[in-house]
Amino acid sequence: MRTNDPETAISLFVPEDIRGAKTVRIQFDGKALAVPEGVSVASALLMSGVRAFRSTPVSGATRAPYCMMGVCFECLVEIDGRPGRQSCLVPVRDGMVVRRQEGATELDTSSEKD
Ligand code: FES
Repeated sequence: MRTNDPETAISLFVPEDIRGAKTVRIQFDGKALAVPEGVSVASALLMSGVRAFRSTPVSGATRAPYCMMGVCFECLVEIDGRPGRQSCLVPVRDGMVVRRQEGATELDTSSEKD
């Protein structure tokens, strides 16, 4: 579905009960963003207008989230210094530092403990 309506676009990524929630502050490539508490990093970045989450190792083409459920790996970013994180599966946390992922890196296969 394509839309140019920002309210409709946001509704694709934010459950109704999140609207009006508290905000947390994160950084993306050095830029401070205020985003709703409880959403995924991918949702927060998309709502903030970010459209390039990573670049491919071969051509350098930019990529952005596609499935939003942990299947496609198009949403990989670096979170708090750890590359290869699936941003659609990680909830935002106040003070989180997110960076665009350029080219190939190691996937983070450690268990989620934070
Ligand atoms: S958007 Fe597909 S794995 Fe994250």
